Amino acid sequence: MPEAGGSCGIHSEVAAQVGSSREATWIIEHASRETGGDGPRTAELAWELAARRAAGEPLQYVLGTWSFRNLELAVDRRVLIPRPETEQVVEVALRHVIRMASELPFEPSLVGVDLGTGSGAIALSLAAEVPTSVGWEIWATDASTDALDVARVNVTTLVAQRPDVADRVHLVQGSWFAALPGDLMGRLDLVVSNPPYVATHELGDLDPEVREWEPRSALVAPRGASGVAGMADIESVIAGAGRWLRPGGALVVELDPRQAYAAVDAARRAGFAKVGTARDLAGRLRMLEAVR
Ligand SMILES: C[S@@+](CC[C@H](N)C(=O)[O-])C[C@H]1O[C@@H](n2cnc3c(N)ncnc32)[C@H](O)[C@@H]1O
Repeated sequence: MPEAGGSCGIHSEVAAQVGSSREATWIIEHASRETGGDGPRTAELAWELAARRAAGEPLQYVLGTWSFRNLELAVDRRVLIPRPETEQVVEVALRHVIRMASELPFEPSLVGVDLGTGSGAIALSLAAEVPTSVGWEIWATDASTDALDVARVNVTTLVAQRPDVADRVHLVQGSWFAALPGDLMGRLDLVVSNPPYVATHELGDLDPEVREWEPRSALVAPRGASGVAGMADIESVIAGAGRWLRPGGALVVELDPRQAYAAVDAARRAGFAKVGTARDLAGRLRMLEAVR
């Protein structure tokens, strides 16, 4: 291991090891923050992180945090790394919450659910970004207790920064709607979800960084009843939302562009009155958007 000699001194060597100058900067900055300055401990940590990165681990897991909208979320192998497309899912969900709040008389009070919350990216963004003038609660569910442990860390961090949103988030374990208290059935204002939607046979086409490091249970779903690959979980969410949303409540589901038309079909069959799709910032059909 090269001597520390100040963290700048190792930049070019770390960059050569990880194959990127920008990543080397992030790694050294992270090591410096964690060890409170530069010196031998910073260099030692930077080399440790660089070795993990060079072995193929995603940068986000190596750093242990990643930004999502206004949040800095803890992430590790127990959760999917939140993606930029999902930031747009939050945008669309937020628009529905604000619209519904403006339609309600007196002091609006709304309740939503983020199904398959992972790191808590969607639920915590909505907890932080729905205006505080709106009474707002969000139930964040996951089948994975490991994922919920990570989400809990992120809730604690958010609440430390924003004590005013402490009562807004509830974490619960279970499969899709079965995680929720039964008295919410037919009363939800918003269902939002980024469920697994990669087809099993496409797992091999994924970038090895994704395939070998991110939880398979967060990525892959079986073929749906529609016959469309990777659609089974999306179909469960849509069918359940038809029962759990109140009339006028909104559903926003992330999907693969090739699943958009089958999802629109499934939503119509589940009784949604208004059904459409929304695009991500790259212009791809990325969400089902429906009002019951
Ligand atoms: C694509 S990840 C999304 C994570 C996070 N919402 C995000 O957007 O970054 C899907 C999540 O759904 C969870 N999941 C998979 N099957 C589930 C089920 N049957 N019920 C609830 N959650 C499930 C996974 O554990 C994973 O956290």
